[in-house]
Amino acid sequence: MTQLRFSSEINAHCNLYITEVEHLSWLSNQKLNDSSDLLKSAFENKLQYLSVQGGGKLNVFLLVKPNADSAKTKEAVRKAATSITEELNRLKIAEVKVFDKTKTSFLTEVLEGTLLSNYQFLKYHSKAAEMKNSLNTIFVDPQDISAERLDEIKCLIEGVFFARNLVNEPLSYLTAAKYSDELIEKSKESGIKIKVLGRKQITDLGMGGILAVNRGSFTPPRFNILEWKPKNASNANPIVLVGKGIVYDTGGLSLKPTANSMDFMKADMGGSAIVAGVMMAVAKNKLPLHVIALIPSTDNRPGNNAYVPGDVIKMYNGSTVEVLNTDAEGRMVLADALHYAKRYNPALVMDFATLTGAAARATAGQAISLMGTANQKLKNSLKKIGLQTHERLIEFPLWDEFGEMIKSDIADIKNIGGPGAGMITAGKFLEHFTDYPWLHFDAAGTAFSHHKRSYRGKNGTGYGVRLIYHFLKNIDLS
Ligand code: BES
Ligand code: ZN
Ligand code: ZN
Repeated sequence: MTQLRFSSEINAHCNLYITEVEHLSWLSNQKLNDSSDLLKSAFENKLQYLSVQGGGKLNVFLLVKPNADSAKTKEAVRKAATSITEELNRLKIAEVKVFDKTKTSFLTEVLEGTLLSNYQFLKYHSKAAEMKNSLNTIFVDPQDISAERLDEIKCLIEGVFFARNLVNEPLSYLTAAKYSDELIEKSKESGIKIKVLGRKQITDLGMGGILAVNRGSFTPPRFNILEWKPKNASNANPIVLVGKGIVYDTGGLSLKPTANSMDFMKADMGGSAIVAGVMMAVAKNKLPLHVIALIPSTDNRPGNNAYVPGDVIKMYNGSTVEVLNTDAEGRMVLADALHYAKRYNPALVMDFATLTGAAARATAGQAISLMGTANQKLKNSLKKIGLQTHERLIEFPLWDEFGEMIKSDIADIKNIGGPGAGMITAGKFLEHFTDYPWLHFDAAGTAFSHHKRSYRGKNGTGYGVRLIYHFLKNIDLS
């Protein structure tokens, strides 16, 4: 990760000034008067930024154009910071000092844009050292931000990177067992308590959904339980986060067509990566909240003993499911985890999953699909924070009629609905296993990106970690 440090130096070799056209009076203090006209015309031409080279120095001005919609302004600033980061890397610059000269402060967004866009996943490149971005350190002025706030940004972005790394890891490395090792290592660093259940314990508990999906696999499943319980927790009943941890989804016997859809199915643990990233950010920032994470994990394969379409599976909660498509495996593992969550008498349960192609199509990767039974106040808060972090949500309803679509002839429910509203019938399936305030996040379209989307980059995005961190930090459970 790019280093983030304090420095009180007034004038570095490379300076990044966050500027607004209304507030350019500081230019004279910094002896930058000569840039004033250039800056004004850059603002008029609606440029994102202006770079001025001279006297062995590079001064970059990020131009903030306030919009009536503060969320839009923030996103424009993150994007401008991304363009600047790309330019600094092109120029092989290693260090930059940032000065916030705006009235309301956009330092957070600039640091987000810079740090998030400077992420690289080079683990498997032989020439990683040569490919590494030049930019390695960002200095900020102690006058612009407190040490606590700087640390918070750093830990949150580390959480995003943890999620991205996990999504980017292929199955050749990240099996269910290895995933648990990664979670154990990071939990130790962050002061999180972790317990991992293996095949025997999962079998003894009777987690039929997880076992059914794992039957075609060559490696055993895992059920990861993480807990952050600080002494000053403000909630008596915990918040439980549940994540789909399918480390690879071939579809099982209902095999996916290989040409495109399977190529990125290493990302099918993306929901649990959000959960893992959020847990690390919450713990490292010591949020006064009792939070538990449940991550059921396995790959989904058509091995010898794989579950077959037509099978009836007895789930952990005792109900029966007719499997009509082995590719609808995410809901099978989540159902058992959602039932497990009941033992905590939770104040709120939120599950995260790359669950349906329907959600990905409905949102084109521009939002996470939200559903659930939790109260409107919580949903409103989520949507608002979604706009502010630009990790947005579109809500779909859980009307009874959608529940009719998963009725089975021979079991309590079946694991697919009809051709339409696939993200909602999946939501209805999950709802069956809940009896507490619950929210479901289908991140199928956002967890992984096939092309570069500004600071989110390409491949694993970590989309949702910033949203849920801020949601938890501000949560009102009353
Ligand atoms: N992992 C997929 C969903 C998915 C699709 C994630 C695209 C990311 C991008 C999931 O397990 C799945 O295959 N869902 C099926 C369900 C269907 C068989 C009811 C789907 O959406 O097609
Ligand atoms: Zn599937
Ligand atoms: Zn899947």
